[in-house]
Amino acid sequence: MLVPEPEIVGCVVRNANPAGCQARVAQQIAAVRQRGTFAAPRRVLILGSSSGFGLAARIQLAFGGGAATFGVAYERAPDAELTGSAGWHNQQAFDHFAESAGLQAQSRFADAFLPQTRQAVLAWIREQWGQVDLLVYSLASGVRVLDDGRRCRAVIKSLHNPLEGWGLDLAAEQLIRQQVMVAAEQEHRDTVTVMGGEPWQQWVLALQQAGLLAPGFHTLAFSYEGPALTHPWYRDGTLGAAKRHLQQTADALRMALRPLQGDARVVMCKALVTRASLVIPFLPVYLMLLMAVMKDKGLHEECPQQMARLFADQLYGPGAPRCDALGRWRLDEFELRPDVQHAVLARLSELTADNFRQLGDYAAMRSELLHQHGFMPIAG
Ligand code: NAI
Ligand code: NA
Repeated sequence: MLVPEPEIVGCVVRNANPAGCQARVAQQIAAVRQRGTFAAPRRVLILGSSSGFGLAARIQLAFGGGAATFGVAYERAPDAELTGSAGWHNQQAFDHFAESAGLQAQSRFADAFLPQTRQAVLAWIREQWGQVDLLVYSLASGVRVLDDGRRCRAVIKSLHNPLEGWGLDLAAEQLIRQQVMVAAEQEHRDTVTVMGGEPWQQWVLALQQAGLLAPGFHTLAFSYEGPALTHPWYRDGTLGAAKRHLQQTADALRMALRPLQGDARVVMCKALVTRASLVIPFLPVYLMLLMAVMKDKGLHEECPQQMARLFADQLYGPGAPRCDALGRWRLDEFELRPDVQHAVLARLSELTADNFRQLGDYAAMRSELLHQHGFMPIAG
């Protein structure tokens, strides 16, 4: 089959190279195996299993911890004209390698926000596993269809003042000026509905009501807060509001799971390249500066390294998760180090449309995104 050319629009890659996706999954599996084994929970349900943190978590838990996994993702299948999305090929590749390794892996492409998806997955768990030990909630979506059929859209806007700053266009390979508007009340609510904790809670409570939670059941969801520099457009914007809701959901679920000796946590991750992160205004520019600084200091991480620390080192390894005053687990301590943030700010203050390739790790960021879609790196 002909290797397609990447189709880039803004900071989104719209197609994928199937063989490259498979090779990348194989590479992640090899890295996990090389790191050695640990004792993972036996039966793990992952929502958002086809890319980013969810896929990295699944590979870590299955190939490092021997877990049986059930993955749910919502992706585009290939057809006569289009290659299908990277996540579709990633998930197929995962299933293939898991089967070859004798690991149980069940995958669905379905909308995890819909009650019928929940019911189908619950039925499978009841029949095949009896119970589930861990649920990883890693959905990143711009839309959620509600039970009454209404389509709710997440918007990435400010809650206080309109903002302007540098953005990046990976197709044009240029810095651009970006504006972020103030969200209307309804947009704010809708973003919390899509990216907040309600669907997470629905899944956990449905599993609990069906008697499918194993004693000691754990669940976790990924969040971001970032340094002061990003607060106006992330923490203090619509996405930050959704993440606060996710946090409140974790607190509520922790209470609900007490009788089972269970636990529910938000995990604060670092900013890194995924399909979901690069569509956030201003984030690509912050990220390419952060990547340059963290590589300089030997601190660079992508999803696989974050998930290795979380599962293999901390949760099910010799260490323990780093817990903050709000009960959140933290994997973002290197990003937030004062020396890292000083260096990022210094670079940002010198940034121009002409020098961004030198000040930021522009080429590596672009090739990481292309790699995630199965394309070989292309010099920036
Ligand atoms: P991603 O885009 O790589 O993965 C999203 C996953 O959700 C994919 O598997 C996709 O198929 C699935 N999905 C989307 N809509 C779905 C639906 N309706 N039903 C079933 N599956 C669906 O995104 P990423 O970055 O891994 O995001 C996961 C979580 O991590 C998000 O909550 C995000 O906010 C959080 N996070 C991301 C950071 C970053 O820098 N990328 C940093 C910290 C947290
Ligand atoms: Na994910």
